[in-house]
Amino acid sequence: MSTLDWGLKNRLSRIIKTDGKTVMLAVDHGYFLGPTSGLEDAEKTIKPLLPYADALMPTRGIIRASVNPSTETPMVLRVSGGNSILDEDLSNEGLTVSMEDAVRLNVAAVAISIYVGSPNQKETLLNMTKLIDEGLRYGIPVLAVTAVGKSMGRDARYLALSCRIAAELGAHFVKTYYCEGFEKVVKTCPVPIVMAGGKKLPEMEALELTYNAISRGAAGVDMGRNIFQSDSPVAMIQAVRAIVHDNATPKKAYEIYKGMKARLKSKKSKVKGVTASKAELSRH
Ligand code: R5P
Repeated sequence: MSTLDWGLKNRLSRIIKTDGKTVMLAVDHGYFLGPTSGLEDAEKTIKPLLPYADALMPTRGIIRASVNPSTETPMVLRVSGGNSILDEDLSNEGLTVSMEDAVRLNVAAVAISIYVGSPNQKETLLNMTKLIDEGLRYGIPVLAVTAVGKSMGRDARYLALSCRIAAELGAHFVKTYYCEGFEKVVKTCPVPIVMAGGKKLPEMEALELTYNAISRGAAGVDMGRNIFQSDSPVAMIQAVRAIVHDNATPKKAYEIYKGMKARLKSKKSKVKGVTASKAELSRH
């Protein structure tokens, strides 16, 4: 860490806070999934969540179209793609954004998927090293995203291999899935690991997953569907934050989620009541 350039360190510290932890909100799904459930109207989904995210992970299209440029939340820009959910093999990805455009967007980091063990292993790894070289030139850190796609392994042996290769080749932090033996994945990776959330789970299970990852050494989460597909996304992100930053237990975090959800609901119905009575008044 100490050998990194000041600008790069400064950007990383905007994402990973002084407690060494981060709650990143992933909203980049559309780059290969199209209009993912919960992100159909990305601006509407992102706006209320942004103040609670330590960093947002979007594509450049979503940043420009759906994120208010006055935000103070740092952006971790997805810069790989070229595949779609219609592909048999998702590993056929290339770089989709120039470093010049990433600088123009004032991002705090760039993110690229790597596919260790796939037919496109070499190309995705070399794309990552090219990105790292360019990032170093401008002081922009690189997040390596591992193991996306049904065909990729999700056990500790595979994830440790994948994360370690990413770090050895120069990634500044790594995103990967939780697995049995996750502590081994963390211990053998010399850079911070953030946990990807994966498909939507009941809220309590997602909070348990978060707790397990944090207590086994993750530097945080980069979570998407388990937040924005929740029945109360703003309550859920705050519950996740309580685990990541305040060491809350899953039980305590679930109480936070439930309490917050109830408060938000009653606030909403009060606002609806006010709107309704205003409408009533205007009719008379
Ligand atoms: C995958 O390639 C993307 O980075 C996803 O946005 C990310 O893994 C999804 O987050 P989640 O699985 O928590 O919805």
